[in-house]
Amino acid sequence: MVVVFTVAQQKGGTGKTTLAANLAAALVANNRVALLDIDPQHSLTQWHKLRPDSASKLSFSEVSGWRVTSELERLKAANDFIIIDTPPQIDTDARLAIRGASLVLVPVQPSPPDVWAAEGTLTLAALERRRAVIVLNRVPSTGKLCEAMVMALRQTRRPLLRALLGNRIGFANAFAEGLGITEAAPRSIASNELHAVVNELLEITE
Ligand SMILES: Nc1ncnc2c1ncn2[C@@H]1O[C@H](COP(=O)(O)OP(=O)(O)OP(=O)(O)O)[C@@H](O)[C@H]1O
Ligand SMILES: [Mg+2]
Repeated sequence: MVVVFTVAQQKGGTGKTTLAANLAAALVANNRVALLDIDPQHSLTQWHKLRPDSASKLSFSEVSGWRVTSELERLKAANDFIIIDTPPQIDTDARLAIRGASLVLVPVQPSPPDVWAAEGTLTLAALERRRAVIVLNRVPSTGKLCEAMVMALRQTRRPLLRALLGNRIGFANAFAEGLGITEAAPRSIASNELHAVVNELLEITE
């Protein structure tokens, strides 16, 4: 069974592209993985262009419009995992990507605007009858507001991954080299966090 992770959140800068790149880099160690970039900003495409020849090979496509669905079908034939990075608005293409997902990943920084914006993506996933899960990203190591927000999300029974990603410069450093954190700094705390996220996602989609 091919697993399709669509990373979506209509708010900009929440970590969609970072999450997509890092999931791909971690999963490609043991699987056939394709990335699909449907964001016209093409940050993921830039990351992939920086990827060193020595790193594990990822299939890569950037498409838009009606080709999103056909490209997804094409990639399914030759991969175990497909990861789709979407633009910071829910347009037609993002909607098609959500429709094609096994699981929609919604990165959220623990701040009110991110959480409010996530509601729209969760609602759309529900309309498309897709499972969705919030992935907390850039979580500061201390902070009362953050703790309160995490508690509130748990209490309101929003679908929330237990594993979370801290606010770690290593993610930006790895990205600048075309790598994931598990490749660039495999023994770092950030790498452990990423592995925990991957393991939980594999449990959910098993
Ligand atoms: N866990 C993290 N720790 C530290 N920095 C992070 C983390 N996740 C993302 N960032 C940084 O936050 C910024 C925005 O991340 P990213 O580009 O992945 O967000 P995005 O949701 O894809 O943005 P856009 O909506 O513009 O596509 C980048 O500078 C990235 O390096
Ligand atoms: Mg992006």
